[in-house]
Amino acid sequence: MSSARCYTYMPGPRPLPVIGNSWRFAIGKNPWRTRALDVTLWFLRAWAGTGGAVKVAKLFGHPDLVFPFSADETAKIYRREDAMPHRAKAPCLSHYKQELRKNFFGEEPGLIGVHGVPWSRFRSKVSKALIAPEASRAAVPELDYVANDFVSRMECILDSNRELPKDFLTELYKWALESVGAWALGTRLGCLKENDADAKDIIKCIHGFFHSVPILELSAPLWRLYSTPTYKTYIEALDAFRTLCLKRLTDKGICAEIAKTYGEKVAAILALDLLLVGVDTTAAAAASTMYFLANNDRAQRKLQKELDKNVPQAKIMDCKDLDRLPYLKACIKESLRIKPVILGNGRCIQSDTVISGYDVPKGSHVVFPHYILSNEERYFPSPKEYVPERWLRTQDVSEAMECPLGHDRKIADVWRKQKETGIHPFASLPFGFGRRMCIGKRFAEAELQLLLAKIFHRYDVTWRYGELTYSVTPTYVPNEPLRFTLHHRNKRSNK
Ligand code: HEM
Repeated sequence: MSSARCYTYMPGPRPLPVIGNSWRFAIGKNPWRTRALDVTLWFLRAWAGTGGAVKVAKLFGHPDLVFPFSADETAKIYRREDAMPHRAKAPCLSHYKQELRKNFFGEEPGLIGVHGVPWSRFRSKVSKALIAPEASRAAVPELDYVANDFVSRMECILDSNRELPKDFLTELYKWALESVGAWALGTRLGCLKENDADAKDIIKCIHGFFHSVPILELSAPLWRLYSTPTYKTYIEALDAFRTLCLKRLTDKGICAEIAKTYGEKVAAILALDLLLVGVDTTAAAAASTMYFLANNDRAQRKLQKELDKNVPQAKIMDCKDLDRLPYLKACIKESLRIKPVILGNGRCIQSDTVISGYDVPKGSHVVFPHYILSNEERYFPSPKEYVPERWLRTQDVSEAMECPLGHDRKIADVWRKQKETGIHPFASLPFGFGRRMCIGKRFAEAELQLLLAKIFHRYDVTWRYGELTYSVTPTYVPNEPLRFTLHHRNKRSNK
């Protein structure tokens, strides 16, 4: 017999008769704004108490949400995961693939917004080619060209004060799109060129797609009733991306391998999924890492020292060069800890499960709020401090940490406390976990390492404005213009 408590007793906001808890998001007042789900999560965290869980029950047209605020509990649930884990539905994308363009996608709808047997069949076809370490390692030289072109472009778009333009996040989208194109399709899409006609269309699609996703996925689904202008933009962008993927398949890149075995359609559907989720995610991660380093002179100088020692001059970088950059990797991990691109990962549980001591019925939607766990003192001492050293092995941390001076003493204290606490393997999971974890993780890491290595090797990056704020769109992205200032390293006056 289970000693677990009845689900009814799990704490959480009380639903009203008939309208349940949906009205909270419909009214959209703090802490229930869809664009500010970070605030909602902290609010629920306080409600749950230490190590507990909360539920948000009776949501219109949606299963109950259960939030376990514990890394141990997260580990237990993930480790019991079924062979075909269900993530939250992406309603608009499912509508596109499984209703509107059903004739095209048919039995092979891809990975995103797909569940059960069709997902499992597709993932097993493409998994090996994408996840194998060699797949992303082999792509490094090609991605190096893209990163070089982007850094040259950055120099051209600086204003007279050497500030990057207001829409630098869109520029990062172009870099990420160009990188996915090079890796997946084995071709250059031309997004970093000024006057490429095809590229202009692609960039128009990026604007259309990424601006319509938050409106369609996070607001009331009016598009179910009639074709709203945002819905039309979204469908046009998806159609254009789909055509692009079919048109630009080459005999190179990851998708060419898939095409050889499973045909061009499977390869094009994979390319589409990679473009849809591999652009805003990496762009946001690059933006946050630049921001943290621009605000942290100590970490930036330490990174530059590592780059000076290991980045080859006038040579294309390969994966062995990246292996010599542990501090850079730690900087990216630390940025994703404080500002993960996806705030929480979800699983729709397929059988009754005990969570944090409560019997939770099958069909409930468990949200692992790793944004909260990775910003909690109990898992990461002084969580607001940007201390990449937390992630380093002791032998990679410099002697300065052993006998710190001045302001380094504070950082050394954080590092020592972190060593005592250890890093719980389920407390920071920016790429998810298990059979459905991010299939582009290794590629995203290599792509980010290359770009950031180039930028910080060449420039001192500074930030002259206030603290950045973030919104959920559904990726967690900065609100304010990313107006970083860049100075060639040997030209900075205060050094
Ligand atoms: C910093 C960058 C990125 C982050 C933080 C990120 C994060 C995630 C997360 C949290 C998931 C859900 C995992 C789960 O349910 O356990 C996911 C899924 C996925 N990601 Fe990424 N991602 C990133 C970049 C990329 C890139 C560059 C690509 C491809 C080019 C990619 C392709 C995918 C795909 C296809 C899935 C769906 C996998 C499936 O359902 O089988 N991601 N990603």
